[in-house]
Amino acid sequence: MNINKVLVIGAGQMGSGIAQVMAQAGLSVYLNDISEEFITRGLKGIEKNLQRNVDKGRLSVEGRDEILGRLQGEVSLERCSQVDLVVEAVIENLEVKSKLLAKLDSLCPSETILATNTSSLPITQLASFTKRPEKVVGMHFMNPVPVMKLVEIIAGLATAPEVTKAIEELTLKLEKTPVIVNDYPGFVANRILMPMINEAIYTVYEGVATPEAVDEVMKLGMNHPMGPLALADLIGLDTCLAIMEVLHEGLGDSKYRPCPLLRNYVYAGWLGRKTGKGFYDYR
Ligand code: CAA
Repeated sequence: MNINKVLVIGAGQMGSGIAQVMAQAGLSVYLNDISEEFITRGLKGIEKNLQRNVDKGRLSVEGRDEILGRLQGEVSLERCSQVDLVVEAVIENLEVKSKLLAKLDSLCPSETILATNTSSLPITQLASFTKRPEKVVGMHFMNPVPVMKLVEIIAGLATAPEVTKAIEELTLKLEKTPVIVNDYPGFVANRILMPMINEAIYTVYEGVATPEAVDEVMKLGMNHPMGPLALADLIGLDTCLAIMEVLHEGLGDSKYRPCPLLRNYVYAGWLGRKTGKGFYDYR
């Protein structure tokens, strides 16, 4: 399966990062979102990242322009008919993702692979909203995408082995490391990471320590590059809550119950870096 043309849906921090690394690897990329404004913001972020590489002498000006030349913003889904792969990176919500996948299924040629960057929703369930469950696969990038080496590849029950293989090969082409896992709630990355973040929030909630103290303990004591609360702010507290809900419901174990303080932050709209406030203030 040759993957040369890709449509990335969602121009937020994950989608634009995915579009960037795909274009860097020589693929033609269409970046889609619901408004021109979101697309422009995503493309500007990519340009800024590439310029930093030029400034640091890691990329030539020509190289930057070639990469940008392979990227095109698209507010409609018309390009669906031309691509080998769609990667969706929209909000972590089953209803939104299932409706989108059903629409993509109706618009894309039968051979197009539909990959989802979901961080925890079941691939087998998402695939059931299409008529091509064998071509639906999880391609879970880590944030910040241009920096992080891992791509967690999730094979749903119905995913064809050659589809998983094609995504594995593409990941290597992106100069990232694929790890293939099975389709259970939270997969591997978030089944382990998110309970740690949730526990860090409980530690603050119960008055054991301040966010700064919790993060310092994990950074200096465990050599984590950033503390769990700073990381939660980077990921987005709404996403963290959504993942905890999937773990709680999908595994049915009370150890995955989301911390009430996490819920309150989400109710308050304190979602982390993207809203300027989370456990830390970014304004
Ligand atoms: N986009 C592109 N590049 C970025 C970036 C971004 N958003 N953020 C940082 N970088 C680059 C910087 O430009 C810098 O590059 P150079 O060294 O080449 O100049 C490099 O990353 C290091 O950045 P900094 O020096 O500014 O800061 P740092 O050393 O503290 O690194 C970090 C920042 C890479 C984010 C690091 O703190 C880290 O690895 N944190 C943990 C990230 C993590 O755990 N991610 C996984 C989250 S879970 C997830 O994504 C899955 C999910 O489903 C929730």
